[in-house]
Amino acid sequence: MNTPYRERRARAAAQLGEGAVAIVPTARVQVRNRDSDFPFRPDSYFHYLTGFIEPEAWLVLGADGRSTLFCQPKDMEREIWDGIRLGPEAAPAALGVDEAYPVHELDARLPKLLENTATVWYPFATHPGLETRVDGWLGQVRARARFGALAPEGQRDLCAVLDEMRLVKDAHELDLMRRAAAISARAHVRAMQTSARMLRAGQDVREYHLDAELLHEFRQHGSEFPAYGSIVAAGANACVLHYRADAARIRDGELVLIDAGCELQGYASDITRTFPANGRFTGPQRALYELVLASQQAAAEATRPGARFTDPHEATVRVLAQGLLDLGLLDAAKVGSAQDVIAQRAYFPFYMHRTSHWLGMDVHDCGSYVEPSEVGQVSERRDPLSGELIKDRPARILREGMVLTLEPGLYVRPAESVPRPFWNLGIRIEDDAVVTAGGCELISRGVPVDPDAIEALMRG
Ligand code: GLY
Ligand code: MN
Ligand code: MN
Repeated sequence: MNTPYRERRARAAAQLGEGAVAIVPTARVQVRNRDSDFPFRPDSYFHYLTGFIEPEAWLVLGADGRSTLFCQPKDMEREIWDGIRLGPEAAPAALGVDEAYPVHELDARLPKLLENTATVWYPFATHPGLETRVDGWLGQVRARARFGALAPEGQRDLCAVLDEMRLVKDAHELDLMRRAAAISARAHVRAMQTSARMLRAGQDVREYHLDAELLHEFRQHGSEFPAYGSIVAAGANACVLHYRADAARIRDGELVLIDAGCELQGYASDITRTFPANGRFTGPQRALYELVLASQQAAAEATRPGARFTDPHEATVRVLAQGLLDLGLLDAAKVGSAQDVIAQRAYFPFYMHRTSHWLGMDVHDCGSYVEPSEVGQVSERRDPLSGELIKDRPARILREGMVLTLEPGLYVRPAESVPRPFWNLGIRIEDDAVVTAGGCELISRGVPVDPDAIEALMRG
């Protein structure tokens, strides 16, 4: 069977070491209230290794590559209420696993699978109660010691292996991420156009109206859920970094910031656009927007194999620092040159988050931000704002197939030192970058960033 899952299991198994076993549960069904559950979303690690999206499932993977699945048994009555189950009989052919058993046999079979192994791997600190269950199984193996059973002596964190694998995306993942980004881009276009159209018609436009347009487009193209709570922030609400789509009125003359992305078959997209509600930037809005855009361009140019994860952020900050001086948001007489602005982190009141994070199955995806071969190289510095002593380790070196966001922003709160036309403007531009051989590919540009292009599509 030519699925990516078998190949991923083989690659993971090859890293476990001789005589090891790995245990990977999927997510739990979470109760929302009384008889209603939250929509089920499989655990990302489990999904990555199996492609199997039913709840109540476990994968046990041996270092020899042998895989055992535990899943819900066929059950006519439950299937009438909850839907068709694959069932253990069909699982080997459907999923390429070697064996499958009903999940109620897990506790009975796991001790046997752990007997005479050297190490048990499972994802640490991800599934409440998992450690206790593993302890229970190990206890049962030990209880058989007098019959000659050997219990594994080592326990290791499976996240370490899987995080590294998931950090570099394979072709199947990149295809899904491109498709997710394309759907999200369409959703942003739709929300922009709706905003302008409703305002032109003199309607009362609320943040939730645009949120509804996003959801429509996501679902219309097969996305299961938003990858995170959508931010639709009118005017000053954009300065609240974790604002959620609410009921505030969207007014003619204001900017709207939308940070929203769909999830498609387990893969996230993450896009932010900031646009004039009525389709026309004012002078100060455009000036600040073009500064953020230039800083994002600098970030994209710094994103290539061999660069450090921190390079796009540093490129962004260089552009923003100079621009804040040029636009008069920072006073050179007080803060000095752009270099001083950077050294003193004087830009921080306007730009208080980082430029990038890994993107993949999880919107803030797994993967170390430190270069693994350089973890021992620690340097110390004092933060110029807090005075705190910070230990730095060399940042991750970018490789082809890694995916990260590029999301600079500026958030201007009212202050006497800031020219009034910029007050309450919050701007972020966020795209999803795949590191390619020659640099990076922005897979989320189905929605434009150029201010003229945004104005043009909002006229349509
Ligand atoms: N939407 C979450 C983030 O941009 O990090
Ligand atoms: Mn992001
Ligand atoms: Mn975002």
